[in-house]
Amino acid sequence: MSIVTLNVVRGDAATGRRTEEYQVPYRDGMSLLDAIFWIREHVDPSFSVRYSCRSANACKECMAVVEGKAGYLCSLRAVPDSKVNIEPLSGLPWIKDLATALE
Ligand code: FES
Repeated sequence: MSIVTLNVVRGDAATGRRTEEYQVPYRDGMSLLDAIFWIREHVDPSFSVRYSCRSANACKECMAVVEGKAGYLCSLRAVPDSKVNIEPLSGLPWIKDLATALE
């Protein structure tokens, strides 16, 4: 079985910023948002990420910094046996984990 490794910034203003590593079972067509849903379901239900449409790039709520570039977690595909770094958007008020204020 293939794995996707996510290195994700977690925390909030009170606890500070840290990076956590998660090993997620890969499945065909999996988006990075799907991988985060897996983490929420199987590892840590308190993981915060903002989303609404989940696949249409319509709501723009899932935007994060992936490998140093802004992108939509719902449309970026996970790559089997890869490692990916994910951070919250900069320049917006940080709420928690990958969630930032929308404006
Ligand atoms: S969840 Fe709406 S653009 Fe990604």
